[in-house]
Amino acid sequence: SVLCSACEEVKASQNPSVVVLTGAGISAESGIRTFRASDGLWEEHRIEDVATPEGFEANPELVQTFYNARRRQLLNPEIQPNEAHKALAKLEDVLGNNFLLITQNVDNLHERAGNMRIIHMHGELMKVRCTQSGKVSEWKGDLSVNDLCDCCQPPQPMRPHIVWFGEMPFEMDKINQAIAEADYFIAIGTSGHVYPAAGFVRSARLYGAHTVELNLEESQVGSSFTEKHYGLASEVVPKYIQDTFLNTIAT
Ligand code: NAD
Ligand code: APR
Repeated sequence: SVLCSACEEVKASQNPSVVVLTGAGISAESGIRTFRASDGLWEEHRIEDVATPEGFEANPELVQTFYNARRRQLLNPEIQPNEAHKALAKLEDVLGNNFLLITQNVDNLHERAGNMRIIHMHGELMKVRCTQSGKVSEWKGDLSVNDLCDCCQPPQPMRPHIVWFGEMPFEMDKINQAIAEADYFIAIGTSGHVYPAAGFVRSARLYGAHTVELNLEESQVGSSFTEKHYGLASEVVPKYIQDTFLNTIAT
């Protein structure tokens, strides 16, 4: 039904505000490998070599090859959003402005499932940026050290639009504000090894949010959550969202 703006406001004030943090685990069942599993990406690559500014300076070709392989994988038509991504899109449909999705994932499966209120705090695989001006562009193919951005004179090399270890995650002010105002903070598929994301649960709790961990197993920061459900994201996430929100919120 279409509501007038006053009714929209009343409806919004009655709904809880929900902040969701996702990590590699939510995309595992879509066929994208996580970082820290025994078959994870960090088993084959040294973080220092492929995911730090120093690694990029020392060997830009190696870093481009690592991200090119991951970008190619994302373009494979077999890689599709799963039931967990779809459940989060439904939740945003119902909650509107009371919903924010913070993802550490650099894939685009959340937007392909239909979410729009997303912060990619660790960047996006399908974007690159100028190493000098920081201008961000969409990028669908391989990136090579010979690809130059012509926004500067002389043209400058481009780098993946990814937050590497030791760099500042994106949109931290907006994230911190949303966490301070949240009624629910729900972490999905993240191991709790990487800060600042691993610390969000503690601040959410200090600010009074109900905190929920949905993961395959207890994470590194699992003891900080008040509610926990362990299992496959494609099963646990739709069930939790249905039971907690969709069955109770009038649409
Ligand atoms: P990191 O070096 O990526 O640091 C996080 C970044 O976020 C830093 O730039 C920091 O300034 C920034 N930051 C921190 N708190 C912030 C806040 N509240 N607001 C805004 N920005 C903030 O990560 P880290 O914490 O040093 O390491 C995370 C994990 O990654 C560790 O558990 C470590 O074991 C692992 N790690 C492993 C390897 C390896 O295995 N070789 C290498 C690096 C990191
Ligand atoms: N359903 C639910 N959870 C799962 C599933 C699944 N099908 N498969 C794996 N998991 C869980 C794992 O148990 C693990 O706790 O997802 C988590 C994935 O953890 P990581 O591989 O460490 O990924 P993430 O937490 O996103 O890593 C954070 O580290 O390397 C950096 O920048 C990179 O954004 C990344 C950050």
